[in-house]
Amino acid sequence: MPAPILEPNEYRTALGPDEVVVKVTHSGVCGTDLHYMMQDMVLGHEAVGVVTSVGSACTIFKPGDRVGWGYEHYSCGSCTPCLTNEECHCLKAGYYGASDFDQGSFSDIGVWKEKWLFRIPDGIQSEDAAPLMCGGASCFSPLIEHCRPIDRVGIVGMGGLGHLAIQFAAKMGCEVIVFSRSESKHTDALALGASSFYDIQHVTSDFSALGITKPIDRLIITAASLVDISQFYPILSRKAIVIPLTATKETLSVPYYDTLFNGVKIIPSMLATRYMQTKMLEFAERHKICPIIEKFPMTEAGIVAALEKLKNGQIRYRAVLSWD
Ligand SMILES: NC(=O)c1ccc[n+]([C@@H]2O[C@H](COP(=O)([O-])OP(=O)(O)OC[C@H]3O[C@@H](n4cnc5c(N)ncnc54)[C@H](OP(=O)(O)O)[C@@H]3O)[C@@H](O)[C@H]2O)c1
Ligand SMILES: [Zn+2]
Ligand SMILES: [Zn+2]
Repeated sequence: MPAPILEPNEYRTALGPDEVVVKVTHSGVCGTDLHYMMQDMVLGHEAVGVVTSVGSACTIFKPGDRVGWGYEHYSCGSCTPCLTNEECHCLKAGYYGASDFDQGSFSDIGVWKEKWLFRIPDGIQSEDAAPLMCGGASCFSPLIEHCRPIDRVGIVGMGGLGHLAIQFAAKMGCEVIVFSRSESKHTDALALGASSFYDIQHVTSDFSALGITKPIDRLIITAASLVDISQFYPILSRKAIVIPLTATKETLSVPYYDTLFNGVKIIPSMLATRYMQTKMLEFAERHKICPIIEKFPMTEAGIVAALEKLKNGQIRYRAVLSWD
């Protein structure tokens, strides 16, 4: 169960010149929210809403604009990661769960830096845009960076991130292979663009047992918990890239010799730059990438029910809280 919901103990009296007030209309519920359930903070980092007022130095948005925000709150703009197109790794970044504890998208209002808000394209409904703000951006970014249309791309775990990764990869022209512990998701995976689906729940040996003959070139891991990457090694191509997205403090361990000999690269990926976030929204609108959502009311009962269902692995495929 989540911790009791507390009354706020922080107050803002004035709007900063670079800040925007957003009336939140929808919020996705991301797997990462489960990690912060017991923390004294406003939860939620997949926000969509409407601008109601802007600070004196704002130039991008005006009241009435539809916007969203994601996991990163701000970056410094001048450290080495920021200057090398790696603002997600900014040395002075503000992130969900680490700063601005009074700001979260399980709310009615957010005060956000204008430069970290994203315009929602007209062709995407607000309830569909919410899961794109963290889940969508976080899997789109490594797909663009590491995957080519000629690649066989494995997606491990078909939850909020995974079901979006399938759609993005398929629309990019990749061949998509899903590895899931839920056979009940098989039909949906194919409908979203996967060419094949493997139920790995009961496979305790390595995954050569699945009978896959064509190797996997890229493996994107969106599972809620650490998976044993070594199980995939026999079905990876030489120089395959494994991209873990799972957020966990567990220890990742891989067979060193096989990693070396096969040239396997393990490149974790975290969030998306603002450029990539914007491109993701454009791509999603153009290719009609649409999350499959379960709606819950933006009430205490709705929030508790959505988190509980997510924790139990029962959401198909992203919970969205809504003021509708
Ligand atoms: N790196 C980033 O930038 C980033 C951004 C957002 C989220 N995340 C992290 O990415 C992960 C997925 O987030 P999400 O929002 O997609 O969560 P989610 O909706 O709960 O989906 C996770 C999926 O993982 C599978 N799974 C569940 N329990 C598992 C277990 N014990 N072992 C292996 N697989 C399991 C399930 O898929 P099947 O039923 O198909 O097996 C489940 O649907 C979380 O760890 C989250 O914190 C990372
Ligand atoms: Zn920086
Ligand atoms: Zn997230």
